[in-house]
Amino acid sequence: MNNYENKSIRDIVLSHPQLIGLFEKKRIDFCCNGHVTLSAVLNEKRYTENQKEKFLAKIEEEIASEIINTPVLLPEFTKLKELCQYIIQTHHAYVVKETIEIPILFEKVVKAHAANHQEVTEAGQLTLNLLKDLKSHLHKEETILFPLIKYLEDCKHFEEKPHLGRNQSIRKIINVMESDHQTAGIVTEKIRELLNDYKAPADACTTYALLLQKLDSFEKDLHIHVHLENNILFPKAIELEDFLHTTYKR
Ligand SMILES: [Fe+2]
Ligand SMILES: [Fe+2]
Repeated sequence: MNNYENKSIRDIVLSHPQLIGLFEKKRIDFCCNGHVTLSAVLNEKRYTENQKEKFLAKIEEEIASEIINTPVLLPEFTKLKELCQYIIQTHHAYVVKETIEIPILFEKVVKAHAANHQEVTEAGQLTLNLLKDLKSHLHKEETILFPLIKYLEDCKHFEEKPHLGRNQSIRKIINVMESDHQTAGIVTEKIRELLNDYKAPADACTTYALLLQKLDSFEKDLHIHVHLENNILFPKAIELEDFLHTTYKR
């Protein structure tokens, strides 16, 4: 037995990314609250001993199985700047694309269905605000944080101590990014709740169903995006900054 109960969700997902699909299905947060142990999460979800046993067996089964249920295969990068590039090209590009498409669908659905489904109006407003906040968040990452990470890697390459301005500590900037992630996580959960777990109501038209499908995919992509940043990129960038400060004096 691998004693998964006492491991953090983050560590489990880092060693077995194929479990992301299962954790999504069980609504276990592996990105913003990945530091929590599996045992604590299951207790919070009030799993009985029997349910816990079954779930742990399911984990073992998924790991042993050849079938990969993970929505995407997470690549491994030797350089952090390559990971930043991957995040921009894959996840940031996806957010930008959906920032155009999702509001168009919402507008149509609100027009046609708000009379019978008042929840779509509130969900639409929350989504528009979320997309706006994400736009500014991605901008901060692409123009401040990621270039700084690249600079730190260059310093390591040239064996130099980094020269950063007073507000340019990676740790400080990362705290802000993590807080943005936390807020986005709370908002997406609220939208999912309002829209009945993205289950289409009986009278939903194709556009309504498509919108729900898109919102579901958007949230799942955001989880993987935040996982790559919170659990891989950020800890490694902080480690790199600490290493440079303690190793190179000038
Ligand atoms: Fe990002
Ligand atoms: Fe981010």
